[in-house]
Amino acid sequence: MVSGMENTQKHKLVVVVGSVREGRFGPVVASWVAEQARVHGGFEVETVDLADVDLPLALPAESPRSAGASYPRPAGMAPLTAALESADAFVVVTPEYNHSYPASLKAAVDWHFTQWTAKPVAFVSYGGVAGGRHAVQHLENVFAELHAVTVRDGLVFPSYFTAWRDGRPLDPETPGHARTMLDQLRWWAHALRSARDAVPYPA
Ligand SMILES: Cc1cc2nc3c(=O)[nH]c(=O)nc-3n(C[C@H](O)[C@H](O)[C@H](O)COP(=O)(O)O)c2cc1C
Repeated sequence: MVSGMENTQKHKLVVVVGSVREGRFGPVVASWVAEQARVHGGFEVETVDLADVDLPLALPAESPRSAGASYPRPAGMAPLTAALESADAFVVVTPEYNHSYPASLKAAVDWHFTQWTAKPVAFVSYGGVAGGRHAVQHLENVFAELHAVTVRDGLVFPSYFTAWRDGRPLDPETPGHARTMLDQLRWWAHALRSARDAVPYPA
């Protein structure tokens, strides 16, 4: 349950499943996060799974930054682009591969630009000992370039293979941490949505 003056309006939250690997754990984490966001009550929630998206590594010659709506994306990318376009906030669910985030996530980011602008992004990571810490550090750097606002509190799951059972984290404090992350994301989603509606962002 959310509280406060700004909570009459639900904002669109897009949960991005970053890994596309065969046998991946990502959808388990994303499904639980989406459930927490629905329980939170401040969002209309949509999950986008990059495994369902046509994401070529070869980009067009022009930049998505300058081309805008005429950027030539594959037809199989349209649902992703539409979801990003309509979002007021994002939760990026990422594993850690070789001390960074997966190539699928980088491709999804690089095929877009304005869709991230002046919107908040929170991170939920998982992995071995590092729990996705390096992946999130790299993503924070990337999203700064895209004029997105990264949220301080996120969720980190080291050794996720022992920290989760039956699709849920074992630590009973984790839902509370998720609520804190979602409260911050909701605050930024509202603040930035109001600002975007009032004044065009000077990108
Ligand atoms: C290519 C590759 C590199 C990995 N590198 C790391 C790493 O640097 N740090 C880490 O904590 N886990 C690492 N792992 C373990 C992954 O975090 C773990 O396999 C996780 O399940 C991957 O997420 P996914 O199942 O959604 O693909 C790596 C896994 C793969 C496949």
